[in-house]
Amino acid sequence: MTTTFALAGIAGYHTVWGVTPALHSPLMSVTNAISGTTTAGALCLMGGGLFPSNSAQALALFSAFISSVNIGGGFLVTKRMLDMFKRKGDPPEHNYLYAVPAAVFLSGYGYGLATGAASAHSLAYLGASLCCVGALAGLSSQTTARVGNALGMTGVAGGIAATLGMLNPDAGTLVQMFTAMGLGSAIGLGIAHRIKVTDLPQLVAAFHSFVGLAATATCLADYMHEYEHFLSHPSETAATKSLMAYGKLQGILGSAATYLPGRHYINGGLLGANGLALAIYTMTNEFGTGLSMLATTAGLSSVMGVTLTMAIGGADMPVVITVLNSYSGWALCAEGFMLDNNLLTIVGALIGSSGAILSHIMCKAMNRSLINVILGGVGTLSQGTGQAKAIEGTATEINVENTVEMMNNAKSIIIVPGYGLCAAQAQYPIAELVKNLTERGIKVRFAIHPVAGRMPGQLNVLLAEAGVPYDIVNEMDEINEEFPETDLALVIGANDTVNSAAEDDPNSSIAGMPVLRVWKAKHAIIMKRSLAQGYAAVDNPVFFNENTSMLLGDAKKTCDALLNAVQALPK
Ligand code: TAP
Repeated sequence: MTTTFALAGIAGYHTVWGVTPALHSPLMSVTNAISGTTTAGALCLMGGGLFPSNSAQALALFSAFISSVNIGGGFLVTKRMLDMFKRKGDPPEHNYLYAVPAAVFLSGYGYGLATGAASAHSLAYLGASLCCVGALAGLSSQTTARVGNALGMTGVAGGIAATLGMLNPDAGTLVQMFTAMGLGSAIGLGIAHRIKVTDLPQLVAAFHSFVGLAATATCLADYMHEYEHFLSHPSETAATKSLMAYGKLQGILGSAATYLPGRHYINGGLLGANGLALAIYTMTNEFGTGLSMLATTAGLSSVMGVTLTMAIGGADMPVVITVLNSYSGWALCAEGFMLDNNLLTIVGALIGSSGAILSHIMCKAMNRSLINVILGGVGTLSQGTGQAKAIEGTATEINVENTVEMMNNAKSIIIVPGYGLCAAQAQYPIAELVKNLTERGIKVRFAIHPVAGRMPGQLNVLLAEAGVPYDIVNEMDEINEEFPETDLALVIGANDTVNSAAEDDPNSSIAGMPVLRVWKAKHAIIMKRSLAQGYAAVDNPVFFNENTSMLLGDAKKTCDALLNAVQALPK
């Protein structure tokens, strides 16, 4: 099992490493859905006929239900995101045909069961696990992303079918299982159907808290069921951290970091107490003590989830989410070892490694260390120890009329969107504006920073939703060298990701962060509401450059006004 775990981890690493940044959001969502495989672990502990007959079975029922919310919701959200990348004129898709190989897989397993083939379960588990690897690999490019989502669904369905076949539960328990899974999936589908694209980061965070809760419930249920097993306990931290991340992204909790006095001592104390409870748990043979130690670690980890996440600001939540994605994968692995279930171990290792890689990619894009983000720190890996340069000068304002004139006179424009575009929901007028400008013969492209917005790939999905053709949406590395040959850089609600201090001031707290060099364009127009700082709380010297003009106001209102003015121009 350890070898399987290692191989799955390596497979996850290799498949996720190659995923195009534009697909980072669907990737997070599909791993979310696949992590709903915690259902398989929960099913192993369910029983009692139509209703659970003890607390362990009731906990397992809860876990199966909540994991299924993830499955239904995760796959539908992924499908919705991928649908946004579809364009008129794309070849027709016959997605229902993916049901054929899935049906062949499930029938093959059914045939194996009927003929009493001893290896039917293991082969079905292997097939399901390979489908999950294929799901991540499929999500690495636009052309195969849909196959990836279908493979994910087949893998999870195959895994659950094989678990049911292996358990062969009585009719009452089977009804209980299907009710829990059916109800959970229906709720997940309902939520995923209604969610707005701008709220996707919060949804992913909320779904993660479900995986954490489900894994914790399954662990407790398993201990009650067979209390001598070893089990790990990071999942409760993941559950409350995810809930905090959800709260900050949704705006229920303030997005600014909240520093408790002596927070590092508090967290250290909680960690120490947790270690002590774990030590007592591993040494005791007494059920009551073991269970109370488990409950203590779950409780302490929950509090730690809150105290750790309080200190992390809203814009760093994407890293928190992927780290938690990774945690939930490792919790799933632990569950797999505990229940001696290869499927859970493989899927857990895949999710664990994919979350870790996404976290690494984001930290690299900010030139920060993971520890710095997770412990609520600021500053980059290369920040000097001196004072940051003082910024002096006067910003020049521009109005809509003059902006339109500059756009109309430009041969090439690069648009740099950021969090402000998401917050204002200005994607529709900007998509329409780009269409108009392109029809007027102007070369317009988008440049996306890897950590623009509040979720990896969020701006790609948002622009795709508004119908922007994805061949004009470029990643930072593809387009950064082209600013000097560009007439106009139009920045919409981005700030830190276009801050020249990252390159020019070694003492700036964003020193060394890769940024989009909008200041190198012949002219830059920056659209935001004020001259205020961005998330990193660093002043932006670009605002005061001679070749920069500030177009102040809400991005949606300004984009609407620009669109109206461009539409009114003579043809
Ligand atoms: P920010 O640096 O946060 O700047 C966004 C700007 O948008 C703000 O300065 C704000 O200025 C403006 N804004 C807000 N609402 C607006 C509205 N309704 N209309 C017009 N403008 C509005 O965003 P960014 O450039 O996208 O950078 C992302 C930040 O998040 C970076 O610091 C990055 O390190 C961090 N981060 C992101 C991620 C991921 S994966 N996305 C991960 C970790 C960290 P006004 O208040 O003046 O309007």
